[in-house]
Amino acid sequence: MLTVSMTVNGKQVSKEVEPRTLLVQFLREHLSLTGTHVGCDTSQCGACVVHVDGTSVKSCTMLAAQADGATVTTIEGLAQDGELHPMQAAFKEHHGLQCGFCTPGMVMSAVDLLKHNPDPSDREIREWLQGNICRCTGYHNIVKAIQAAAQSMRG
Ligand code: FES
Ligand code: FES
Repeated sequence: MLTVSMTVNGKQVSKEVEPRTLLVQFLREHLSLTGTHVGCDTSQCGACVVHVDGTSVKSCTMLAAQADGATVTTIEGLAQDGELHPMQAAFKEHHGLQCGFCTPGMVMSAVDLLKHNPDPSDREIREWLQGNICRCTGYHNIVKAIQAAAQSMRG
């Protein structure tokens, strides 16, 4: 066992974990932050995307120990003071989800996209989301929602 410490959604946490514990397991099983989903065992689906030190990362591809000392944000940490993040609000408004399974990862990836590119084209959004799979194939409205969020965040 080893001790892993990090800041998750603004709170300092410290837990004893097995060295092989993945970051996604740490979040879900040790911190009960189950908004971060596991949709595959091949690092393909993107349902597990969180931000580590401000950058989107598939949390199933990283050991919890590798995030020791990092600042992590999950979907649960995006809303502030009871207000949805503009990306969450846009997904809701533009029906950017069906079953919702891929949504936390889509939203976290999209927020990171807008940090790099505040005014992305549809093509740039689709390219950025190559690592996020929606099994309901709701991509059209996801792209619309991201465009709307980009506009509201620029405005
Ligand atoms: S669970 Fe991480 S990419 Fe699918
Ligand atoms: S909304 Fe169902 S997987 Fe994307």
